Formats: sequence, C-alpha cells, structure tokens
Amino acid sequence: MLRKLRRGAALGAVLLAGLAALALPLTRPERAPADAMAGLEGDATRGARIFDAAGCAGCHMAPNAPDGEPQARLRLSGGQEFASPFGTFRAPNISPDPEEGIGRWSALDLYNALHFGTSPEGRHYYPAFPYTTYVNASRQDVADLYAYLMTLPADATPSRPHEVAFPFNIRAGLGLWKALFLRPGWVVTGALSPEQTRGRYLAEALGHCGECHTPRNALGGLRRDAWLAGAPIPGGRGHFPNITPARLDWSEADLIEYFTSGFTPEYDSAGGHMALVVRNLALLPREDRAALAAYLQAVAPVPEAPS
Ligand code: HEC
Ligand code: HEC
Repeated sequence: MLRKLRRGAALGAVLLAGLAALALPLTRPERAPADAMAGLEGDATRGARIFDAAGCAGCHMAPNAPDGEPQARLRLSGGQEFASPFGTFRAPNISPDPEEGIGRWSALDLYNALHFGTSPEGRHYYPAFPYTTYVNASRQDVADLYAYLMTLPADATPSRPHEVAFPFNIRAGLGLWKALFLRPGWVVTGALSPEQTRGRYLAEALGHCGECHTPRNALGGLRRDAWLAGAPIPGGRGHFPNITPARLDWSEADLIEYFTSGFTPEYDSAGGHMALVVRNLALLPREDRAALAAYLQAVAPVPEAPS
C-alpha cells in the first residue's frame, strides 16, 4: 500500500514536472529590457513617500521592531511571518546589506522584482510579495524608491526560508499563476476626479489595500468582481472588513481621521494588520489620505462577495 502510494506520488511528481516543462516557455520569469531604467534619476525624498504609501516596512521590518521608535521600522531585516493556505512565508532582508540584503541590486533589479515578480537570478517570487499591486507603479516611482532604500541602515540578519509544502515549493509553477493573475491595469475605472485618480494610484499601485480586503478565488487570485468586499483572514480568525460603499458609510472626514489617528467614528481604534497600515498612512501628506478616502467612495458597492 505504502509502496503504491509512493509510486503514485512519484508518478504525480513526474507528471507535474512534465507539465511544468511544457508550460515553461509560456511562463518563464519575465524581465524588463536592460535599458528600462536608463536615464531615470532617483530622488530619495520622493522615494520615502512611495515607501510609506506602499507599506514596505509593514512587512519587511523586524518582527520585534518596537512601536515607539520611528527608526526601528526602517531597519528592513525581514523575518515577519505570513500564514496562507499554501504555507508560511517569511519576509526577506531588503536592507542595503551587500551579503544578506539587496545592497548589490540595481534599480533595474528592483523594478523587475516589483513589476514582474522576478528575482535578479531570474526566479519567480511568490505573490505573498504583493507585486500584483506594484506592477502598476511607475518606473520613476521605482527609481525614487530605490534611491531611498539605499539610504536606510544595512542589517546583516540572514533571510529565513519559507515553509511551503509541495507542490507550491516549486517556484517554476508560479509562472502559471502569474500568467493567470499578474497584469497591470486598474480595477476601478470610469469617470474619476483627479483626486480619485491619485487615490486609485495610492490604493491599486502602492497601498495594496486589495491584498487584504478583496476575497480570493481557489487559486489565490484576487476577485476583481468583488473588489474590497471583505475576505477571511488567512491562518487567523475573523475577517478583513468589506470597505466598499455598500458596507462602509463613513464620510470623507471620518476616513481621513481613521487613516491619520486610527480612530473610527465610534472611537474604536484600528487593530490587527490595519494598525500597521495606518502607521504608514499617517506619515503621508494629508492630501494623499484625502485622495484615498475619495477613491473609496468611487469603488463599486458590493454588499457581499458573490460566490
Ligand atoms: C504583504 C507583505 C509585503 C509587502 C507589503 C512588501 N513585501 Fe517585499 N516581500 C514579501 C515577501 C513574503 C517576499 C518573499 C517572496 C519570495 O521569496 O518569493 C518579499 C520579497 C521582496 C524582495 C526580494 C528580496 C530578495 O532577497 O530576493 C524585495 C526586493 C522586496 N520584497 C521589496 C519590497 C518593497 C520595496 C516593498 C514596498 C514597495 C515590499 N517589498 C513590500 C512581502 C512583502
Ligand atoms: C495587511 C492587511 C490590510 C491592508 C494591506 C489594508 N487593510 Fe484596511 N483593514 C485591515 C483590517 C484587519 C481591518 C480591521 C481593523 C480592526 O478590526 O480594527 C481593516 C480596516 C479598514 C477600514 C475600517 C473598516 C471598518 O469598517 O472598520 C478601512 C476604511 C480600511 N481598512 C481601509 C484600507 C485602505 C484604504 C487600505 C489601503 C491603503 C487598507 N485598508 C489596507 C487590514 C488591511
């Protein structure tokens, strides 16, 4: 029986490898042309704003970074864990350390990671790294972000491996996932004011609000038909709330207050993952928080995620 099972597993693996080999030409990690970032001058001050809007520190700072120290969140040693139905992911070190971090990376390497989910060695990244959002970020913003990242303190903490089970531990399989779900483009379209358009960029190219607030299909792809309509928290209890206008009836001023202080109109304070998000949003200029609030009012109302 056991032998049969093993043989079955081996056969499965061979089949899977065969399929992956067939699909490989279609799903090879993509990269930008070598001159894609040529001529772009990065501005670290602008980059700081991108960094805060994109929430990079929320995932890449140390798991034990003390709350009260603003500098602690800038030490991007990695190590935080993210549960998912496919296993546990660990954020890597992205400090400018040349050995353990990304100190040897070029701006083009960063662009390929954020835009294509492709590593400098040409491997696929897992979408736990929200490049499905960052694919919409402009090259100038990536150049600015790169300039800023290189000013942060280097940290020599080694990155730790993910704990992901077969077959999800085979990165080549991610090519298929990307072919299905990774594409640039906006979810919220139609007649938007300039402020809402700015808010959409902040939400859909940087702030990755959808990565938590949007439900996923069985393969882990975001359900664009139920954008921001709420989702179960993976590996945890409870729900990411529905923040479409069908459920969230806060005024723009309420939203701006929430993104600034974390206080809801009922004087609750933002908890869980959202506390970290607010910590980043609070660092942005007020006009960016106002733009996010304006964007949320342009999202299609979805009372409940349709199944
Ligand atoms: C939701 C959590 C999350 C956020 C937000 C996030 N990352 Fe990551 N990032 C990850 C995970 C998880 C990985 C590992 C992916 C893998 O191994 O396939 C990763 C990988 C990376 C890598 C590759 C590092 C290496 O050693 O190959 C870089 C660079 C990176 N992230 C930069 C950023 C930047 C810059 C931002 C902000 C714009 C950001 N990340 C935001 C979770 C996150
Ligand atoms: C890492 C996951 C995560 C991300 C990313 C995220 N949120 Fe949230 N959000 C949450 C959680 C969890 C809550 C519930 C907080 C609580 O219960 O106190 C929440 C609550 C909220 C609420 C309050 C809803 C209510 O009914 O109380 C708003 C508004 C909101 N998020 C907007 C946003 C916007 C806008 C973005 C993108 C800029 C965003 N969120 C990104 C996890 C996230």
